[in-house]
Amino acid sequence: MTAITTLLLPSFVSTSSGHRDSGSRSVGFSELNQCELAVVIDVLRATSVIVTALNADARGVTTCRSIDEARALADSLHTEAVLCGERNCQKVEGFDLGNSPQEYSRDVIAGKQIILTTTNGTQAIEAMNQVPELVIASFLNLSTVIKKIASVRTACIVCAGTNGKVTSEDVLLAGAMISQLKTRDQSIVMDDASNISALIWESFQGEDVASLPPPEQLAARLRETQGGQNLCHLGYEKDLLYCSQIDSCSILPRRIGKSPTQFG
Ligand code: MLT
Repeated sequence: MTAITTLLLPSFVSTSSGHRDSGSRSVGFSELNQCELAVVIDVLRATSVIVTALNADARGVTTCRSIDEARALADSLHTEAVLCGERNCQKVEGFDLGNSPQEYSRDVIAGKQIILTTTNGTQAIEAMNQVPELVIASFLNLSTVIKKIASVRTACIVCAGTNGKVTSEDVLLAGAMISQLKTRDQSIVMDDASNISALIWESFQGEDVASLPPPEQLAARLRETQGGQNLCHLGYEKDLLYCSQIDSCSILPRRIGKSPTQFG
């Protein structure tokens, strides 16, 4: 049996007891410490990029909070580092790649060390430093992540959001995972945020909860989200279709090092 907590934003982690005077519920550090596994989501597009990069045989992905940290790390490596990332969805000046997963093709990144910093996704990763195990989720590796969650007793699903606001593309993926887990195991324990996420996914999916939507249908839904709108305005609409290819790969990016955070 798995107990699932969902954070609709990483900032819902509280440094106090976990219960605010206002009555709104947050997850405290001690509660988070009891969590075996953190599952970080930034569908558009940081976690889709990490999954894509490792699936295309990048040697590893290192995530950094700041642009300066990423630059310094790339300079210090002297190896095949590729400096990647965005601010406000646009490639950082002087970086090799931006944050479109379609830039991360095998011929560009195989065997290379990716150094990645993004506006929200890499911050959400850092916010989960105290959780013993961390994996990366996207629609691209949905079933693999679900299997991983089902194998632990306690999991915390973390939605990156956008600039401190909850975004429905991340909540939809959290809901897809929770909804599938519920179908397999009725004894699963969920908090309210997990229930809300599952309801959002199920209302999109309609009656056929067992089947998963084709990419075009999911991309059309992602277009309605805040993250989707931002990307469309900047000409990245094709990334929505790419990030909607459910189970196009089976890779599970795992945190293999901290300070800086490394994935393999
Ligand atoms: C982020 O981390 O904020 C996003 O991945 C932004 C983006 O889509 O480029």
